[in-house]
Amino acid sequence: MARTENSITFLRSEYKAPAFTIQTVDLDIALNPSKTMVVNRMMIQRAAGQIGQSLVLHGEEQELISVRVNGEIVRGYELTPHSLTIHNLPDQFELSITSANIPEKNTSLMGLYVSNGNFFTQCEAEGFRKITYFLDRPDVMATYQVTLRAIKKDFPVLLSNGNLIKEEELPNGWHSAVWQDPFPKPSYLFALVAGKLQSIERTIKSQSGKDKLLQVWVEAKDLDKTEHAMDSLIASIKWDEQRFGLELDLDRFMIVAVGDFNMGAMENKGLNIFNTKFVLANPETASDVDYSNIESVVAHEYFHNWTGNRVTCRDWFQLSLKEGLTVFRDQEFSADQMGSASGKAVKRIEDVRLLRQVQFPEDAGPMAHPIRPDSYQEINNFYTVTVYEKGAEIIRMQQTLLGREGFRKGMDLYFKRHDGQAVTCDDFVSAMSDANQKDLTEFKRWYSQAGTPRVKVEESFAGNTYQVKLTQSCPATPGQDTKEPFHIPLLYKILGTESSSDSSKASNEQLFELTQTSQTITVEGLKQKPTLSINRNFSAPIVLDFEQSESDLLTLLRQDEDAFNRWEAAQKLFMRSILNGATLTSDLLNTLKEILLDGQLDPAFKDLIFTLPAESYLYEQVKVIDPQAIHQSRRKLRHQLAHHLQEAWLWAYEHHQTPGKFNPDAMSAGKRSLKNLALHMLSESGHAGAGDFALKQYENANNMTERYGALAVMVNFASAHAAKCLQHFHQTFQSDALVIDKWFALQATRQSDLSNPRSVLKDVLALRQHPDFSLKNPNRARSLIHAFCMNNPGAFHQPEAASYEFWAKHVIELNQINPQVAARLARGLDRWKQFAPNYQVHMKSALELIAKQDNLSSDVAEVIEKALN
Ligand code: ARG
Ligand code: ZN
Repeated sequence: MARTENSITFLRSEYKAPAFTIQTVDLDIALNPSKTMVVNRMMIQRAAGQIGQSLVLHGEEQELISVRVNGEIVRGYELTPHSLTIHNLPDQFELSITSANIPEKNTSLMGLYVSNGNFFTQCEAEGFRKITYFLDRPDVMATYQVTLRAIKKDFPVLLSNGNLIKEEELPNGWHSAVWQDPFPKPSYLFALVAGKLQSIERTIKSQSGKDKLLQVWVEAKDLDKTEHAMDSLIASIKWDEQRFGLELDLDRFMIVAVGDFNMGAMENKGLNIFNTKFVLANPETASDVDYSNIESVVAHEYFHNWTGNRVTCRDWFQLSLKEGLTVFRDQEFSADQMGSASGKAVKRIEDVRLLRQVQFPEDAGPMAHPIRPDSYQEINNFYTVTVYEKGAEIIRMQQTLLGREGFRKGMDLYFKRHDGQAVTCDDFVSAMSDANQKDLTEFKRWYSQAGTPRVKVEESFAGNTYQVKLTQSCPATPGQDTKEPFHIPLLYKILGTESSSDSSKASNEQLFELTQTSQTITVEGLKQKPTLSINRNFSAPIVLDFEQSESDLLTLLRQDEDAFNRWEAAQKLFMRSILNGATLTSDLLNTLKEILLDGQLDPAFKDLIFTLPAESYLYEQVKVIDPQAIHQSRRKLRHQLAHHLQEAWLWAYEHHQTPGKFNPDAMSAGKRSLKNLALHMLSESGHAGAGDFALKQYENANNMTERYGALAVMVNFASAHAAKCLQHFHQTFQSDALVIDKWFALQATRQSDLSNPRSVLKDVLALRQHPDFSLKNPNRARSLIHAFCMNNPGAFHQPEAASYEFWAKHVIELNQINPQVAARLARGLDRWKQFAPNYQVHMKSALELIAKQDNLSSDVAEVIEKALN
């Protein structure tokens, strides 16, 4: 393929400790959008046994101005577009490097860049090397002092990591601020922010009685949208003290919001930088989902302060060490914030839905990798649902195997051993294992083997003996043809053993550890075949091949007290209906109706029961994907549910009001989501009042969830009011970028017209020309392009070239602007080889169109190369 450079593959097995260590970094940065000057003074030491080695620093997209060793100018260095090499160095020295960069031209949003006139940085994974020459790797940890200088009227606020120790007025309208971070850190945790920002502040007392200053920094117009983020931060601080005994270690902790950001947020020491999407909220502009995302992302970044910052990664292959663990921690936090047992189950179901919708396909495609990858071409491509969400499942299984207390003992030992160090996933598992005297050798295969394990379940019942035979396997993944058995913790319970002589053992929830290819569970003394509830609460991230009878599934749906498996039973029955075209039995419909009308059940749980399996998850269930067949069959099922339960939907619509002042708590949010689903189902069923309900709901809403829900129904069902309300929505919120993102996304993800399959693409092409659209802003690009190509499979996948060409064209265009955003989009056709031939041909041409471009970034090149391979 055409490339300006050869692709380099980095291997985990080739890790080498650094030849030099950096003890202190003294940065002096004169900020100017068109030319920022950086003076970087470092104290460097040769590592033991590295005699004669030259110092090779990373550096990119900078103009090198001078190099000094112990104050003396050095001229005999070697400079490449990616490195600076200095020879003949003493064992200990001061290295001072002066360089310049151009923040306003930086559209990759890595390193130092400008967003809406303010300066921000993003250094993870390898952005620091765009700011200065450095050993830009996580196992080089130094203490930083940072002097920021800028013109005061343009950049009144100057922030960096740690504590503010000095502020000064300078000649010509400039000013400066000096920040000191007492904790040694890797360069990826460096941050600076400068510009016109304002903050809300709170002072709290931490566990040990120390005062902590908390700030949320935003543009002045957004100050009224910071309260929820601040509340979430305070709740996170308290939770980490209580659950893990971990206290905030700095006197000051800042969150800053920025409108141009590649990812969700970044855990820079003491100065977390966030995509505005995960900070700003008020009832009129943010939905319940936004509120809960803000809570969990704020928590996630805060929790990194211990799992990521105090103990960091030795190298980027260990990324899941901090990310899987921190996702697990934010999931546990959010579950605890739900305030009820049913709320916790709802949170678990939502997390599993995401895993199955996005991670299972990743694990079965060309980019499949273990949670601790063995190789990469571009590390940015490995901030994946596998490293994050599957990584969190691997941590969760350790908690399941060791128990909550055992897990806590392991965490305590992990911090006792490794505080201040850069370590590996092996170090984490060793701490868990040693603290509990539990052998986790086989368990560690979860770190090294990719692919989603499958467990086949075969039941038999004869002569009062019930047996469950469990057989595990795992499909081949790139570079891994065969797999060793996984250590799989399966929570299970045998239901319907009341009549047995010895029911005491069988009727409690048990933990079965499947460690071999095949093992059998035996229960004696039963009078009749019981019902098996297995992999409760999704205790392992696997696919269960279990042909359970409809009557057993109905039993689970009616009475399993494990809410996850109750939900799962309905999902399985729906899946059979979609994939085999089976019509819904009256038993099932009656049970579903009882559930919908059950006044005791959590509305959020009911909403999830009726949320059909995602198309991307359905694709996983078939050998050859016919996306239109799956799409239409799924819509048919939804129509049946709407039609047969119409009265119950009407009841649900009328009985889930949330009057009074808006409250984003889990119970109110659940009511609103069920109410929105009911409105959707009423429209789907053709209920005569549905159009009016939607319009009234839109007009009377005092919150974004209800307003957006009503608008979505109007747009999806082509209501006569849709165009007018879309326009009203745009006009009302035109100065609020995050709401305009929603406006784009709603239209890009609307359901396709079965009679006019190209209509959504047509709308998207028109929106692409809208004056508010820009490819440069990642949120905006994602709200239209990614939303259509990745979140609207029914409209996107057509047996023709048009939408695949649209996709390719945008990958190519984004590649020039922002490789990370482009590479995410490039993942959209990962699974092309599994599609039916009449789709495949067009997908392949689109992939090849990208492959033959010059100047592909390493990000996009890796994704496309692996897809075509
Ligand atoms: N560590 C951040 C988080 O998970 C993600 C930053 C990733 N950024 C990147 N450019 N790859 O919270
Ligand atoms: Zn993270």
